[in-house]
Amino acid sequence: MLVSPSILTCDFAHMERELDFVKQTGADMVHLDVMDGVFVPNLSFGPPVIARLRPISDMFFDVHLMMEYPDRLIEAFAKAGADLINFHVESAAPIAETLDKIRALGKKAALTIKPKTPASAVFPYLDKVDMILVMTVEPGFGGQSFMADMMPKVRELRTEIDRRGLSVQLQVDGGIGAATAPVAAEAGADIAVVGSALFNADDAKALVAEIHTLRTGAAVHSQP
Ligand code: DX5
Ligand code: ZN
Repeated sequence: MLVSPSILTCDFAHMERELDFVKQTGADMVHLDVMDGVFVPNLSFGPPVIARLRPISDMFFDVHLMMEYPDRLIEAFAKAGADLINFHVESAAPIAETLDKIRALGKKAALTIKPKTPASAVFPYLDKVDMILVMTVEPGFGGQSFMADMMPKVRELRTEIDRRGLSVQLQVDGGIGAATAPVAAEAGADIAVVGSALFNADDAKALVAEIHTLRTGAAVHSQP
């Protein structure tokens, strides 16, 4: 299982040091949580901040847009240095058009579903995405508890992706740590977003290494 640390709970006064810390843990990418104060009851940062982070990190930028109108800023995020642009299926964006726009800009495209949204909401777009994110908390804040009842949804998506022979990755986000990553991996998730568990870990490197050893349901499925 891959690890995408969310920097939402990092020390924003020392971003260079924090991004370096993420790199040193051996994590696979960096998860950047963008919140607009409308789609979720919180605000974080946007394209200008990401543009300033780009030259100080060579890691893959996995950008999670918790925005009502993500379609209005796709070019700005692409220009700022996002490698993957991920927005919510519950947003007001024209979904297919926005996914096409992201890909036309040469970026990876992804869709997220909130806890109350069924897996079937993203089925019409599976051939247009590189990744689906299943939220395992209500979006808006770090440090919440993992919702294990989202695992049937992860399983359903994994089954549909495999049934169609697609190479769409499956990410989980919210309350993931040493105890919950195995549960999500077993259900079929490929990528774990890890926020507070990583920044509060005694040994962050060991936590990443431990998650890396997890075999995803996908790997098990694809065994002959
Ligand atoms: C929640 C964000 C998450 C969050 C993860 O709205 O999308 O990425 O910061 O943080 P933890 O791992 O602390 O739940
Ligand atoms: Zn996130």
